[in-house]
Amino acid sequence: MWPCVVSSFSRRLVASLGVCGRRKCCGTAAFMPEAPAFEGVRSRSELRDFSVSDSERFWAAVGNQRLSWISPFHTVQDCDLTQGRIKWFEGGKLNVSVNCLDRHVHTSPDRVALIWERDEQGSEVKYTYRELLEMTCRLGNVLRRRGVKRGDCVTIYMPTCPLAVAAMLACARIGAAHNVVFAGFSADALAERIRDAESNTVITVNQGVRGGKFTELKKTVDEAVQSCPSVQQVLVAMRTDTPVVMTARDVAMEEYVFSYHDGDVFGCVADIGWITGHSYTVYGPLANGGTTVLFESTPIYPDPGRYWNTVERLKINQFYGAPTAIRLLLKYGDHWVTKYDRSTLKTLGSVGEPINTEAWEWYHRVVGDGRCPVVDTWWQTETGGICIAPRPSEPDAEIVPGMAMRPFFGIKPVLMDTEGKVLTSNNTSGALCMAQPWPGMARTIRNNHQRFIETYYQPYPGYFFTGDGAYRSAQGYYQITGRLDDVINVSGHRIGTAEIEDVVNQCSAVAESAVIGFSHDIKGEGVYAFVVLKKNIDIKEDDLSRQLNKMVSKKIAKYACPDVIQLANRLPKTRSGKIMRRVLRKVVERDLDGLGDLSTLDDPTAVQEIVEGHNAIL
Ligand code: WTA
Repeated sequence: MWPCVVSSFSRRLVASLGVCGRRKCCGTAAFMPEAPAFEGVRSRSELRDFSVSDSERFWAAVGNQRLSWISPFHTVQDCDLTQGRIKWFEGGKLNVSVNCLDRHVHTSPDRVALIWERDEQGSEVKYTYRELLEMTCRLGNVLRRRGVKRGDCVTIYMPTCPLAVAAMLACARIGAAHNVVFAGFSADALAERIRDAESNTVITVNQGVRGGKFTELKKTVDEAVQSCPSVQQVLVAMRTDTPVVMTARDVAMEEYVFSYHDGDVFGCVADIGWITGHSYTVYGPLANGGTTVLFESTPIYPDPGRYWNTVERLKINQFYGAPTAIRLLLKYGDHWVTKYDRSTLKTLGSVGEPINTEAWEWYHRVVGDGRCPVVDTWWQTETGGICIAPRPSEPDAEIVPGMAMRPFFGIKPVLMDTEGKVLTSNNTSGALCMAQPWPGMARTIRNNHQRFIETYYQPYPGYFFTGDGAYRSAQGYYQITGRLDDVINVSGHRIGTAEIEDVVNQCSAVAESAVIGFSHDIKGEGVYAFVVLKKNIDIKEDDLSRQLNKMVSKKIAKYACPDVIQLANRLPKTRSGKIMRRVLRKVVERDLDGLGDLSTLDDPTAVQEIVEGHNAIL
């Protein structure tokens, strides 16, 4: 089995490239090629090596065989990592929505494309490829008629549902970009993202439903667009029966919208507001003609058996989720899992953050009955798709719990030391970079190419820098150790600590603050805020905490609220005034021996105070 959608992608890729996908052929343990497309390539692992050593020929074949082109490409790649120049399939033109829909409607129109696992357990709805194409075309026509043009950026603020998928594909169909904003984000966070995208059109629903609770998405959009002068229209679909106030700007969508086995049922339970939902709920499965599940609910609604009840009912073959949910569920006990039939499951995937050994083992032993490989897949928004993951379909492929293991097709990872030199030996840790480009990687940051170059290509010239640290074992397997920059990962959601500090500092009682991540049993990382109050402020800690929580949920989202607030008289700073977050991290990790060089600290007693304050909290 191969990780997730990549699994079906890869199986077909392997088939289309002429390498046999069966575990054993011709009575031998080795893979036997049926019709090798590349001379000398006889197994999947040789194909993987070939994908790096001759990436040009590899990707040319993938591009030609796996995609339908409007006009063919003339140059496979024109990339230069020293310049941050990423260009693939030059001269080629394709439409991703045609590749996700029309191609499959021609061959198998009635195959189920989406299974919408609605919040209300047991009320799933299925959409075939034909239905999804029709819904997408209708929506594309609506958008076009309402003035959305090629190059515009439409903001989609919707829960994970078929219409949201159709909206994404409709944008792609007419050449517009989509800016999917996680429906848990507040009005302020939404407004910032709408302004950034300069959207003139927003698509939303009246209300969202999650875990039995209603969220007023349309109201949030109303509030957000007040500070977004670019927005001319808001398309509103009805997820529930509750009417909403419509203004002149709003357009009701309910006249426009209606409601295999060649492939497996793919259950990626990520929200479409994050990259995993984009690549492995929408584009990956559909581009491969698969059946994909849209999970609208939460892992514990109506009870902690929800995922496995869904697996039983929808006969899910690959389940792809986040370690934070696994850690949460294992605390409720095995019976919530074992009472459901999980015999359809073949592969269990994990993504978004490191999976600890306890969670990995529970996932493998209890959820997968010890028979399904667990694939811990490492990747990020910037990489577009999975980069490092186990490949259990290969003979004797070892999987070590908690390790992302081995680079995927076309991926050449390297580890760097602090001086920017490539670490060549094994059993070593360093900054994770990529030495070679591949087609799915990010090409720029919209409207800010300079920031793209500075963030990803300047730290290690000639390499793409991921922002993560990694360990390479004696056997050459990779394990991701976490972020190296000021980005933290709370329950699989990435957020810059600066964004949280910015909100905390807006509180009238607060003089300044520093936010760091700390190890948290369920969330992976929690938010730890050091707060310095303004002089002569008298506020109870409970009140401060309430105020900060309210502000952070309003301006960002609930998940970003501080788990711990530590009041301090001052923060440890360098003589040039920079907060030494490294020191704060060490204090919270209780690694006082690891505080390192404190010679640049302007007032060493500040550290002692922070340590005492931290001890008092414990
Ligand atoms: C982290 C999510 C450890 C990592 C696909 C990365 C992981 C960030 C793993 C990207 C994993 C993702 N093991 N850490 N298997 N997968 N991460 O952009 O820090 O939301 O840089 O993409 O999540 O988060 P993003």
